[in-house]
Amino acid sequence: MHHWTWINVSLLDLTQFFSLFFDENRYGSVFKSHILGCPTVVSMDPELNRCILMSESKGILPGYPQSMLEILGKSNIAAVHGPAHKTMRGALLSLVSPTIIKQQILPTIDQFMRSHLSYWANQIIDIQEKTKEMALLSSLKQVFGNESCSLSKELMPEFFKLVLGTLSLPIDLPNTNYHCGLQARKNIVRMLKGLIEERRNSKETHEDMLSSLMNGGENRYQLSDEEIIDQIITILYSGYETVSTTSMMAVKYLHDHPRVLEELRKEHMGIRERKMAEDPLDWDDYKSMKFTRAVIFETSRLATIVNGVLRKTMKDMELNGFVIPKGWRIYVYTRELNYDPCLYPDPHTFNPWRWLDRSLETQNYFFIFGGGTRQCPGKELGIAEISTFLHYFVTKYRWEEVGGDKLMKFPRVEAPNGLHIRVSDL
Ligand code: HEM
Repeated sequence: MHHWTWINVSLLDLTQFFSLFFDENRYGSVFKSHILGCPTVVSMDPELNRCILMSESKGILPGYPQSMLEILGKSNIAAVHGPAHKTMRGALLSLVSPTIIKQQILPTIDQFMRSHLSYWANQIIDIQEKTKEMALLSSLKQVFGNESCSLSKELMPEFFKLVLGTLSLPIDLPNTNYHCGLQARKNIVRMLKGLIEERRNSKETHEDMLSSLMNGGENRYQLSDEEIIDQIITILYSGYETVSTTSMMAVKYLHDHPRVLEELRKEHMGIRERKMAEDPLDWDDYKSMKFTRAVIFETSRLATIVNGVLRKTMKDMELNGFVIPKGWRIYVYTRELNYDPCLYPDPHTFNPWRWLDRSLETQNYFFIFGGGTRQCPGKELGIAEISTFLHYFVTKYRWEEVGGDKLMKFPRVEAPNGLHIRVSDL
């Protein structure tokens, strides 16, 4: 994975990345540099990137720093490879299969979004904060079902410390963010152990991800308690910044592009007209949201959240004529492809219509959700969450920006002081 990569790497982006272009050997779109003190090859070549992402069995493994893995867990999907990765990934994929999304996840997301978005009218809200809260609470609900309400109060502050820990320099001294992140992990592990124990001793049945993980569900992947806990932390962590930031940026782009908003609203009003006000969105509704999907992809393209992913070599490797020595890192840098005018004509224009040609999603230069053996398993889950959010947001409300908020797109997409909007009933 994943999200610590891009977060962690992006910390270095500003200070180090640009220097690559000037200081280091330049071979077309492959450069050599140092990131986090490790010799690193940076590749921006789409074909080479795809080849790297397909070469795990040949000895190119995830290259995330050990300090991150300490916080996210040793059984974390990004920390494991070979058969252990197969098990963790298989277990995760079976939690988010199309059948489960249809029967279990969509109804849960619908119920959650409806209530989460119910009292936003006639207020000024910080949409960055709201979408972050939304992404986390929505995942908590999918993982812990009804128990998420009682758990979230205790778990949320710890989770935020954990995230901050992964964003910080790995200095394990009292009161550093990194230290607090490690501490937060311990607290979360303790809470989850308690919950698993409680469930084992109770006869109550649950229909949520934790329950599927505990009884192997319909999958063949029986995980240990430690693995279950790391899997849960992974799910919460991976779906947090990705889903929240994409949702926030969709709100931003829709605000700035009234024609797109109009078209999106038309799609969602059409769905509402076919239903009673209290009817939840179902699978067919979700599948019919063609323009919504296009808006989400265009948002993810223009506001690139994952700039690239990290790998490391387990032995000397030859790739496209380069010999990369054992133990080196490879930064598969994919961000620039999203702004390449040959791939996306008029690349800086927000134009969701370009994605209505679905083949764009399967192009070999499409890396928004990664590629190869570690392509994002949460892709459809994330899109379902953002789509449901947009459904309730645009059918209930109109909004305008208060103005004056700063928005950064690099090295991370964020509004340093929040993104404030005034919301009214439609
Ligand atoms: C807009 C939303 C999302 C984006 C843009 C995104 C992007 C990515 C990318 C680029 C990777 C590849 C990382 C690598 O190769 O090292 C990845 C992997 C991963 N993502 Fe996502 N992701 C999103 C949502 C989610 C959600 C909601 C989940 C929750 C289950 C999730 C779980 C994961 C996991 C577990 C991996 C690691 C897979 C592996 O190592 O086999 N992602 N994601």
